[in-house]
Amino acid sequence: MKTLPEILARADKVFRPLTVSMPAKATVALYSANRKHFINKIANDYPRYNYNPPEELSRIMWDIRFRSPLFNAAGMFKNGEGYPLVARQGAGAYLAGTTTGSPRKGNKKNNIYQPFAPYPRSKAASNWLGLPNEGHGVVAERLSELDKINGCPIGASVSASPGEHEKVALVELTQGMNLYEKAGVDFIELNESCPNVPSHGITSTAVLDDQLVNRCEYIFHTFLQKRKRRLPVIVKFSNDTHITMVPLLIDLLVTLGFDGINFGNTSTSYKQYEPYIHPSEKKLYEYFVSNFGGGLSGKPLLSSSLSLCTASVDYLREHLPKHEFHVIRTGGIETPEDVHASEHAGISLNQWYTGYFENYSHTGNDVYQKFYEKLLLLEQQQ
Ligand SMILES: Cc1cc2nc3c(=O)[nH]c(=O)nc-3n(C[C@H](O)[C@H](O)[C@H](O)COP(=O)(O)O)c2cc1C
Repeated sequence: MKTLPEILARADKVFRPLTVSMPAKATVALYSANRKHFINKIANDYPRYNYNPPEELSRIMWDIRFRSPLFNAAGMFKNGEGYPLVARQGAGAYLAGTTTGSPRKGNKKNNIYQPFAPYPRSKAASNWLGLPNEGHGVVAERLSELDKINGCPIGASVSASPGEHEKVALVELTQGMNLYEKAGVDFIELNESCPNVPSHGITSTAVLDDQLVNRCEYIFHTFLQKRKRRLPVIVKFSNDTHITMVPLLIDLLVTLGFDGINFGNTSTSYKQYEPYIHPSEKKLYEYFVSNFGGGLSGKPLLSSSLSLCTASVDYLREHLPKHEFHVIRTGGIETPEDVHASEHAGISLNQWYTGYFENYSHTGNDVYQKFYEKLLLLEQQQ
């Protein structure tokens, strides 16, 4: 017996290609309104049985056991909901947020609140949500009450409040990190790459942004040096990051005692990725990027996330850091072959967002089980 969210996801899979051919504004209005309710329904679902991935998929990093190599990317469970769901589904970890110092409502334009558009035939999506969230304090409290499942550690994604004065934003940011430390989370991801708010850099030029350096230095002095327990902090950059920036970014993070790097976030390279959009979805894509801009997610990012992460792993092999430092890949991951390629390249962990929903619409709560069964076959064939 399927659960209601599983049935709704399967039905949407059938109708999506039809609904995206409605007038573009109507499609964006429909999906922007429905997306949040749908995720809430999924997040509150409770899979009938608890899937435990085979031990051979597990890994210990920073003294933490991740029982498998794939988990949700930031933004899926913005307010700390959905842990029991993904823990029972078999995810390798759980990531809440991104949260900011004060609650945020998100972006609104043309009467559309938190604009989102799916491109099902292109296995992609656009969003211009604008970091809506209930704030560090509320989400940290919620996470502190969770019953953790062994091997499914809890992470929190944080960001400095966009629009806030830099000094205030930094104080709030490290206060938030302290709240998450007290809440017992296992790792923190610093989001430096949301394209939908001012002040997040793209690092697409070959120069380190002064503000990024200042933020990282501030975090080093006020949080990293003062951690009361081993609490890894990784930094998430854009998939639009210029490949020549990889050594500079890694040197910066390693020197300041950060614990990992994630490539990455959504893209604003609209022209570059336009050829990846299916002809039947081009009108919707053009409407979205010309009215909202936003970040492109999904399949088009597959090769940039692999190139950036492979370059990171290669650089770290040649410049071994004195402390444990990991590379995490996000962007376009949808098939077991994609994670297999990450494993082959020496990438430590993977996150998915758009691809999770694509798989969920086929396999429902067996989403990780079906994925890992195929992944294991690929690993065995090697
Ligand atoms: C609707 C939506 C909301 C997102 N919100 C966040 C967020 O709050 N923080 C963040 O770091 N990334 C956010 N992202 C980006 C994803 O975490 C991920 O980096 C990106 O979608 C690329 O992965 P994918 O190709 O698997 O979707 C969001 C993405 C989408 C589609």
